[in-house]
Amino acid sequence: MKKIHAIIALLALSLTASAQKTEIKSSVQQVETKVDSVLGLMTLEEKVGQLVQYNGSWDLTGPASGMDNKQKEDNLKNGRVGAMLNVLSPEATAEAQRLVMENSRLKIPLMFGYDVIHGYKTIFPVPLAETASWDLEAMEKSARISAVEASAEGINWTFSPMIDISRDARWGRIMEGSGEDPYLTSKVAVAKVKGYQGDDLSGAQTIAATAKHFAGYGFGEAGRDYNTVHIGENELHNTILPPFKAAAEAGVATFMNSFNDIDGTPATGHKVLQRDVLKGDWNWDGFIVSDWGSIAEMIEHGFAEDKIHAAQIAMNAGSDMDMEGGAYEAGLVKLVGDGKVKEEFIDDAVRRILRVKFKLGLFEDPYRYSKPVTVDFDAHREVARDIARKSIVLLKNENNTLPLNKERKKIAVIGPLADDKDSPIGNWRAQGETNSAVSVLEGIRNAVGKNVEISYAKGADLGVGERNFLLPLEINKTDTSGFEKAISTAASADLVVMVLGEDAFQSGEGRSQVNIGLAGVQQELLEKIYEVNQNIVLVLINGRPLEISWASETIPAIVEAWQLGTESGNAIADVLFGKYNPSGKLPVSFPRAVGQEPLYYNQKNTGRPFSAEHVTYSAYTDERRDALYPFGFGLSYTSFEFGEIEISSEEMTANAPLEVKIKVKNTGDLKGSEIVQLYLRDMVASTTRPVKELKGFETIQLEVGEEKEVIFTITEKMLRFYNANRKWESEEGKFEIYIGPNSRDLKKAEFLFKK
Ligand code: NOJ
Repeated sequence: MKKIHAIIALLALSLTASAQKTEIKSSVQQVETKVDSVLGLMTLEEKVGQLVQYNGSWDLTGPASGMDNKQKEDNLKNGRVGAMLNVLSPEATAEAQRLVMENSRLKIPLMFGYDVIHGYKTIFPVPLAETASWDLEAMEKSARISAVEASAEGINWTFSPMIDISRDARWGRIMEGSGEDPYLTSKVAVAKVKGYQGDDLSGAQTIAATAKHFAGYGFGEAGRDYNTVHIGENELHNTILPPFKAAAEAGVATFMNSFNDIDGTPATGHKVLQRDVLKGDWNWDGFIVSDWGSIAEMIEHGFAEDKIHAAQIAMNAGSDMDMEGGAYEAGLVKLVGDGKVKEEFIDDAVRRILRVKFKLGLFEDPYRYSKPVTVDFDAHREVARDIARKSIVLLKNENNTLPLNKERKKIAVIGPLADDKDSPIGNWRAQGETNSAVSVLEGIRNAVGKNVEISYAKGADLGVGERNFLLPLEINKTDTSGFEKAISTAASADLVVMVLGEDAFQSGEGRSQVNIGLAGVQQELLEKIYEVNQNIVLVLINGRPLEISWASETIPAIVEAWQLGTESGNAIADVLFGKYNPSGKLPVSFPRAVGQEPLYYNQKNTGRPFSAEHVTYSAYTDERRDALYPFGFGLSYTSFEFGEIEISSEEMTANAPLEVKIKVKNTGDLKGSEIVQLYLRDMVASTTRPVKELKGFETIQLEVGEEKEVIFTITEKMLRFYNANRKWESEEGKFEIYIGPNSRDLKKAEFLFKK
């Protein structure tokens, strides 16, 4: 990996010894005045320069612009670059900043962006996993820590959170988002923005966040990355946009648009989305960065003739900054000259970028992120362990197989992922080191006393070929030579912890798959082990929902442990041995068969919902139509009983919200937490509506035998949706309320809404 200092001239550093970044506060009015005064000094060329973002060191997420490094360096010196990405370390960022500050006419500082997706050095669970905690405070905290670690390395901008709704387990990037639900994803979006940006971007150790990918990227046809998206207006507004609106309202500094086209228009060239909705209706004042080269990619889309044409379309549509695409620097000055792009659009884009730079305090101190800061990595690891165990979802626990008794004499730990210290780090791992996770085997060894004999056998390889960040993995190894040892190890144990799943690079960008079962010979290994020892706890490590129907029917206990990051093995052991009673809930449906994808709980009823007796209903003839494990599902080591729903009235109006109560009792033998979920259904409306939609949740802790009442307030606002009038409105009529521990096992009530 080439470092920035290898490609630009090495300049002397004069970093101050200050250990903490200074807090620089500016009022909104002051910022606007400063932005205007800088803008007033700029030539058109300098303005366009602010709209250009260069990659600093490695060309990993797409084709590079092809520009040589000397040219990049000259452009930095001439003030023709507004931001960089992938420039890592205080020294490297200071070097690049210095090129600008010491040579350019106006000395407008650079921003430095990086994909800090689930941690910087301390790696937290992948976002899909973390969302399974439904713990917004914890998610905010992990973002805060990521900002602390990244900002100590010169980074002041993360390309996170990814808040693309996805309903398709085939899509490799499903691991990077918060799953299938717009309400939950919106809540996560706000928590993440707060975590990265703090209360004020000028505060110490805060970084600008990015709401991405705007929009529709998670709906690529057939789960194929970058693929065409067909979403109608109704789905766009009701399903895709809500998390983005929530992020915009939370003050996210930047948006990133997406590679896909939506109903015929590439997102990067989508005026309605960018100019009309985001900057217009939502009145959002940050800037939109393109995805890597996505402006120029409109040529491949067949939407632009060449880079100049692409620049024209993107700027007129409201894309503010060109990430490593070379289109804006090639085209915008000429396009303004030719009258094809209004200079006021350029001014607006520059204003937005300068605004964020001012808010970050870069004008006051361009090097404020490049100063040495002490980071308490040990404290961060503790937080990582806590959020990791909160993210674990217990899918099955027949006969209370779990938690394991530490007195159990012989435990065999088997499987390709059992001692894997790397896959739990997941994809998009920023500066998380290779092989830096605690493996399951290590975690178990750390947890048990001397009474327990632990044996280990890998059994088989994961079933994927050599890792390469840029190349697809070769999937499906067939080597079974390790089976014999694994079988004998299992046969002589009291219990087997079987650790199966996916390689870190089976999910992530460009990692879509048509098969989502256990790759290679893992399924065969599992079946062989089951023949000699049925006392199996299956631990899954994966970035997407997997097809695990056989295991679900056969194996007594299944723990969905995702890719949990640095502290993975310790967190898993905490759950296996009952130090932590699992409480996670799936943010995404697990299918019975890949053919059900896209699969999601908040589907429409259709005109032919379902009938077991007839074939001519919306179903499959060779498989059930419902999820194997539905959205919101997750067990505990204790049990909870839900009472009936009590409502304060059978009618509600905008002025008289409804109070809805339910009693939940811990009926098991351990204390535990339950995530109580509220869903609503609008029975008749001006457009068809989902069979249920999550509208609230609350986590409660219950001692053994304890009962608590959970109260939700249903307001008119919660009933609004993007309706046939093309407005967010509520409509009168009958609604159903559902409350329960997941999206399937629900108590029901109803009310009438009157205006
Ligand atoms: C492409 C990805 O789609 C985007 O999410 C990421 O932030 C950029 N590359 C930069 O690495």
